[in-house]
Amino acid sequence: MSRLLFSLFLALAALPLAADEVAVAPAVDAGRLPPLGAAWLAANPYRQQPAAGDAVAIGHDAYNQACARCHGADAATNAAPAPDLRKLDRACRRIADPELKAWCQRDNDAYFAKTVRRGKIILGVTHMPPWEGVLAQELAWAIQLFVESRAR
Ligand code: HEC
Repeated sequence: MSRLLFSLFLALAALPLAADEVAVAPAVDAGRLPPLGAAWLAANPYRQQPAAGDAVAIGHDAYNQACARCHGADAATNAAPAPDLRKLDRACRRIADPELKAWCQRDNDAYFAKTVRRGKIILGVTHMPPWEGVLAQELAWAIQLFVESRAR
């Protein structure tokens, strides 16, 4: 009996942590962005698209709902518990050659998408939950554009 109570106590004590690691979809309408279909693209399709003019604002909203609690509100700090996402494309931004820059961005986009879809599960510990099936890829790419717009 006491063992059962102890297990119950452990389960309850672990609850808040577990809840923290769950990916919760932001209440943002992905339909305001040009639709991309179910299969994830390899690179950010909105970067060169004038039709995605609202993407940065929509991405800002989605970021604050889904990512900010770990990566920092408004992507405006490097003091959050999770990495400062503004630094992700820093190397690409420094490249002057347009072709090399585009290649670098494609590589960075692939890493961004892979990380968001799979999350970061290291040695069985969830550092970041997987967003596949929770976050529409339209919102993920918009979030990336927002974060890049914050970079200096
Ligand atoms: C529960 C906390 C948490 C939430 C919520 C979260 N992340 Fe993360 N994220 C992390 C942590 C922690 C890491 C670093 C993992 C590691 O490498 O140890 C990370 C890493 C990343 C990376 C890789 C960064 C790098 O420098 O390699 C990307 C990209 C990323 N997150 C994007 C996002 C996006 C986009 C969202 C919102 C949709 C999000 N994360 C929500 C905790 C979170």
